[in-house]
Amino acid sequence: MNVLKRCIYGVSIISLASMNVQCKGDKKVEETTKEAKATEMVTIEKTAYGTTPKGEKIDSYKLKNQKGMEVDIITYGGIISSLKVPNKAGKSEEVVIGFNSLEQYMKANPYFGALIGRYGNRIAKGKFTLDGKEYSLAINNTPNALHGGPEGFHRVVWTAAEAKGGDSASLKLKYVSKDMEEGYPGNLTVFVTYTLTNENSLDVLYEATTDKKTIVNLTQHSYFNLSSDFSKPILDHEITIDADKLVPVDATLIPTGKLTDVTNTPFDFRKPKVVGAAIEAKDDQLKKGLGYDHCWVLNNQDKGERFAASAYDAGSGRLLEVYTDQPGIQLYTGNFLDGTLPMRNGGTYAHRTGLCLETQHYPDSPNQKDFPSTVLNPGENYKTKTTFKFSVK
Ligand code: GLA
Repeated sequence: MNVLKRCIYGVSIISLASMNVQCKGDKKVEETTKEAKATEMVTIEKTAYGTTPKGEKIDSYKLKNQKGMEVDIITYGGIISSLKVPNKAGKSEEVVIGFNSLEQYMKANPYFGALIGRYGNRIAKGKFTLDGKEYSLAINNTPNALHGGPEGFHRVVWTAAEAKGGDSASLKLKYVSKDMEEGYPGNLTVFVTYTLTNENSLDVLYEATTDKKTIVNLTQHSYFNLSSDFSKPILDHEITIDADKLVPVDATLIPTGKLTDVTNTPFDFRKPKVVGAAIEAKDDQLKKGLGYDHCWVLNNQDKGERFAASAYDAGSGRLLEVYTDQPGIQLYTGNFLDGTLPMRNGGTYAHRTGLCLETQHYPDSPNQKDFPSTVLNPGENYKTKTTFKFSVK
């Protein structure tokens, strides 16, 4: 790096070609060239994606590495509209559910690929109290509030800044959520940075600050189908979740307040198990979720970012590992997909053709005194990271 710095200090990465000329005569030219190539390992490219009815221009950014991984992110909802990763034969294919137009994302969208906020998951009856003052949110998942409200972060326009160099490229999205927007107090400034590395990792860094006490629980709502065959359910995906406990829910998917042991239940994924193995079992929790739609209490909560869960598709050989510093992860098996939403190239997304691994705090935390707090005070920095790491085996 020293050589590179010496040769190109003050010169942009784009002018790498001329740099070689500048460095000619230096016996370390070869090393410089190698490093220059390294700066191009992950590229980022912006294209116009569409315009909202209000006239807002939406862009799409493609992050692409040299290991066959490509991620498309649109500034509407911070949505991952496409994610391509290689299978065991080296063939790069689509692994997330998505639409092929802005119009479709703006219609009914069950959060395909979207950023979720200000509060991911449910808040009972849409009510919570801070410093003795009760706040009311829209009831968009009767009788509860879900995923930040009808006009949550998944439906807003984010501004974007690119950063690249070395073996990764990032897209830093920003959104300022106004005081009382969707019923939440405080002006909340949010940054979400997506980083693609040349090691086939997609990092998601969430940051937020507020000017008034509020609640925050941000997550990412991609639906994965690692087989890339979206006509097939994800029931044969092998799932691992590093969690000894579950957050059981009532009939409206609000936590009961207890945390229960997963041992001898369909919720024990401590050893890899195909997700379909017990999904139809006669189990009270599965009945309530219509399948898996639950938050697990992740182990090792004091360890910062650590392994949380994985999904593996034996057919394609694709393995997705999820690392996070969050206390919980929601596994949602696409139970509400019902064949009404269009696939990118014809056909419709049928029941359970995608699964979500949403890292987060437990649902309804603002109303559950024994759950880790989701309160953010002025002067504090909300900062959390999740990594989606892809490989084959
Ligand atoms: C979340 C919820 C589910 C469902 C989906 C979107 O994962 O937990 O119940 O609402 O979003 O359909």
